Amino acid sequence: MFLCPKCNSKMTLPSCSFCGHTIPRLNHIWQFTDAPDMVIDGDKDKYIGYEHIGENYSGSRKYLLEERDVLFAEEVSSLISSGQEAAQLSADPDKIILDLACGDGCFTVPCAKNGARLIAGDISNTMLRLLQEKAAHNHISLENVTLCRMNALAIPLADESVDIVTANSMLHLISNPQKVLCEIYRILKKGGCFICQDDRPGKNLRSDLSHQENGHPPKYNEAQIQADNEKYSQLVNAFYNGYWQKLMPQGILPKKYSWKFDRDQLCSGLFSTREEKLIPRGTPYETTLEDGFLPRIINRGFSDQTHVPKDAHEKAIHELLDEFHENYGEDFGRTMFHGVEDDLLITAYRK
Ligand SMILES: C[S@@+](CC[C@H](N)C(=O)[O-])C[C@H]1O[C@@H](n2cnc3c(N)ncnc32)[C@H](O)[C@@H]1O
Repeated sequence: MFLCPKCNSKMTLPSCSFCGHTIPRLNHIWQFTDAPDMVIDGDKDKYIGYEHIGENYSGSRKYLLEERDVLFAEEVSSLISSGQEAAQLSADPDKIILDLACGDGCFTVPCAKNGARLIAGDISNTMLRLLQEKAAHNHISLENVTLCRMNALAIPLADESVDIVTANSMLHLISNPQKVLCEIYRILKKGGCFICQDDRPGKNLRSDLSHQENGHPPKYNEAQIQADNEKYSQLVNAFYNGYWQKLMPQGILPKKYSWKFDRDQLCSGLFSTREEKLIPRGTPYETTLEDGFLPRIINRGFSDQTHVPKDAHEKAIHELLDEFHENYGEDFGRTMFHGVEDDLLITAYRK
């Protein structure tokens, strides 16, 4: 069901029976493309692959199967389980899910746990390696998962060959999202679905949490939650702005490498129906600067830092950390944010 990158004939792995080309395999990842990890200049379609972000993508949550992704995987799995429990999915080997731009596997891995047959595609070999690590850490087999380095702008799959496509948090990283959507439509079988996840603020406001007891005294009171959250936001802004203020005099400015688009509008021109399902959540969570923001900015993990030269970056971070330790204390990284998880909105566009 794959397409040979050399002659475009339909092929099964590992070799094209028409032209004889064999798809190279690196660390269990089929290399369907030799396109660059990222294209940010020139006249051609641009995209931001995450090869350079890699390890810093999820910080300390690297191996975590987030509740949001587990819920999404269950919903998607149930769609192809013909009304059966998700756990029985492996009984249907004909149904195939493509997780396009799968990243570190936050959807592929929980979905593989449900027994689904998946193709996980990304332009970054490092992200695909992190996917393997997440699966291994959680003792989830990737036996039914085909890992592919592929470019979403030219998906190496045959027309009408997959049942479901997901492409979470990636269309904004491509200058021509319409081209990717046309590719998704092309490879979907008739009646197949492109399924998207979005966050919707839930009913459960943060201030309600100080009253949520379940028989126990609340962990944090309202005043403390508010003070912590204000301090967290203040420090994030101060660190981010301070970083760029150190670089701007050297002519280095933040570059926003992302593109705006209206997914519903683009999909309405392609797909025949659109269905929505809202999954309420509202689970409380706590996170600290050290859990995500700090390791990511310190390691040039935000896409607007992509072009910052290493020396200038390291000098700016070094100075900033000294200033922050002096002004806010050695443990400023432990500053906490108290949040509630957004509700999960699932949209299915059907071919
Ligand atoms: C923000 S991450 C999202 C990962 C995952 N889907 C998730 O929801 O967490 C975006 C991913 O898109 C990938 N990507 C960017 N451009 C791509 C392209 N042209 N083809 C395939 N993958 C691409 C990046 O390498 C990265 O892993």
